Amino acid sequence: MVRGARFAIAYGCAIELWKGMEEAMWQQAIEQALHILKNNIAGHPGKLPHITEGQRYEWGGNDDWIEGFYIGMMWLAYEYSGDAYYKEAAESFLPNFKDRLDRHVELDHHDIGFLYSLSAVAQWRTTRSEEARAVALQAAEKLCGRWRPGMGAIQAWGVEGDPDNGGRIIIDCLLNLPLLFWACEQTGDRKYYDIAYRHARKSLKFLVRGDGSSYHTFYFDPSTGHALRGGTHQGYEDGSTWTRGQAWGIYGFALAYRYTKDAAFLDASKRLARYFIERLPEDYVVYWDFDVPLEPGTPRDSSASAIAACGLLELLEWLGDSDPDRESFEKALRQSMYSLSTNYAEASHSKAEGLLRHGSYHVRGNRAPDDYMIWGDYYYLEALVRMQKGIRGYWYE
Ligand code: GLY
Repeated sequence: MVRGARFAIAYGCAIELWKGMEEAMWQQAIEQALHILKNNIAGHPGKLPHITEGQRYEWGGNDDWIEGFYIGMMWLAYEYSGDAYYKEAAESFLPNFKDRLDRHVELDHHDIGFLYSLSAVAQWRTTRSEEARAVALQAAEKLCGRWRPGMGAIQAWGVEGDPDNGGRIIIDCLLNLPLLFWACEQTGDRKYYDIAYRHARKSLKFLVRGDGSSYHTFYFDPSTGHALRGGTHQGYEDGSTWTRGQAWGIYGFALAYRYTKDAAFLDASKRLARYFIERLPEDYVVYWDFDVPLEPGTPRDSSASAIAACGLLELLEWLGDSDPDRESFEKALRQSMYSLSTNYAEASHSKAEGLLRHGSYHVRGNRAPDDYMIWGDYYYLEALVRMQKGIRGYWYE
């Protein structure tokens, strides 16, 4: 056999070996995650995890923006394992989510999308439950109630006319839009699509900066729609780039592209991804803001890296084989997921309730600066099951 051919065979074998090792690694990470999730479901029946300090979750009711993530994890676990335990646990929460909508409990914010995409829509996508579909459509209708025609966007926080937040959008909202795109597909009513599309265009114009960085929030005059200024809520300072916001943008614009095929959204997602990847620290898991001065103990945000990994997985579906970004996006995805699973993930034998250590919620506001974040757990699991089994989460069919 000639030398070149021997080399090609050896190289091929090495690649196969590496692929096998990688698959075993992701499988082990998923099994660890499912073990922790099962313990949580059994240990806190009927309860939902809240953001808590001290590396633990507090367990309670359905009154924040985050409760859907826990239910979404149950659906991912069910799809991955086929174990009906997770399905039954997830289904048992639907009346609770319906009741929250009916009574309008803490829903004066746009995160209705996060809450109901991962609970009611996930249930409908997985089981075709008509009951879940009806709850999801009710939620989409409520989200539409936050459309402000004067501003031409969805108001992020507070009631209409709120003096601080009446004219404010935030980049996180991009992940709330799939609920509206889904509602349009289900009902044929264009209003849902138009609101989502116009909001995404507004976000692109005002939240994404020329160098591929992003504002967390932007203010408009709510009655005239006149653009006022960019700013931040959870980032380091007004002009800085909050890493989780950047990650919401990567994933959110890629999803907006999936639904609309507007090439500007794909381009935005790629630019945000490049900015994110070019600034990864040595262990490939980001600090909480790209502009924060680094010193010993500067908090990370593992949840931002988990969200970005899901965004990269989505982006990679849309890039051609010869796309110049493909190689660096694939590499960054693997490096980040490897680091998350080896340096940040809890082992299944520990008593941990969270999957990922070192997430941060609101460092500047000193709220949970270095703790478990349930959305970090959700996106970490979403990325793992997508890489391992092609299960894609609940943002689209
Ligand atoms: N969407 C709120 C946050 O990312 O903290």
